[in-house]
Amino acid sequence: MQTVGIIGAGIMGSGIAQTVASKDMDVVLTDISLENAEKGKAGIAKGLSRLVAKEKMTQADADALLARITPVGDYSAMSGCDLIIEAATEREDIKAKIFEAAGKVLKDGAIMASNTSSIPITRMAAQSPDPTRFCGMHFFNPVPVMGLVEVIPGLATSQDTTDRMKAFGEKLGKTVVLAGDAPGFVVNRILCPLLNEAIFVLGEGLGSVEDIDAGMRLGANHPMGPLTLADFVGLDTLYEIMKVFQATTGDPKYRPAPLLQKYVEAGWYGRKSGKGFYDYSGEKPVPSL
Ligand code: 3HC
Repeated sequence: MQTVGIIGAGIMGSGIAQTVASKDMDVVLTDISLENAEKGKAGIAKGLSRLVAKEKMTQADADALLARITPVGDYSAMSGCDLIIEAATEREDIKAKIFEAAGKVLKDGAIMASNTSSIPITRMAAQSPDPTRFCGMHFFNPVPVMGLVEVIPGLATSQDTTDRMKAFGEKLGKTVVLAGDAPGFVVNRILCPLLNEAIFVLGEGLGSVEDIDAGMRLGANHPMGPLTLADFVGLDTLYEIMKVFQATTGDPKYRPAPLLQKYVEAGWYGRKSGKGFYDYSGEKPVPSL
């Protein structure tokens, strides 16, 4: 892999772009518009300047990393990519349109991967031009920091594709876990119901936002409380994931917490919208209610 296309310049796409570029590979980054792709790159630049200020990176290395990321406004520039990673909104209809459009420029032998959090890979592979060259590759937020990536072969994914994706994950410095193709794979299947349960606990008035978070930080040694983590992942994303779990398995235990739905309907998506279980407008996050 020398040139990697990334579709989606939000939290995950930008994190993947930074990580790939940090390993001397070129990145072509796109989103629904050139402006959004440029916004994604500007966010990466902001994060890198913090690392430079903390003397964890030199300015020259930050500049070189940024120079390897090219924001573009459409998929034509991806025709030279060895791998295209889709990291768009967690909605199957949106992803299907992307696979159709990006499939038209996917070069011979190149791989198409999805960073989906929950949608079955086999089903999405069927919408791609060559399901043997389609694979799930699931990163964790913040991508440059988290040590894991899940590689999820679909039913038709070839062994060669799986092997190349495992090698790519290792090249990024991540531990690669091979996960089965069922909603949420391994990590989100366990993590997302936990976050959803914390929201049920809040909705039932069993604890305050701060107490629920302190409980899991100090009582279970989690680095972040579940409501802080839900805000970090994005409440809209968590809601979509739980809906996929519920629809795909038919099991009511996965129903989204009513309070999660309410927050999403209010446009309170968490850290990215400035408000979720916490309000991020001040110097330090404070509970929104
Ligand atoms: N690029 C490079 N390095 C970065 C960075 C970035 N964008 N952001 C932070 N860092 C570095 C910092 O410089 C710091 O480095 P150091 O250890 O050498 O000093 C290190 O990362 C830790 O950062 P901070 O000191 O700012 O913050 P914390 O120590 O509080 O850790 C955290 C922050 C790593 C986010 C930690 O709180 C954590 O692990 N939280 C849980 C995250 C988690 O569970 N993620 C998974 C979410 S689920 C998911 O993503 C799947 C999806 O499908 C839903």
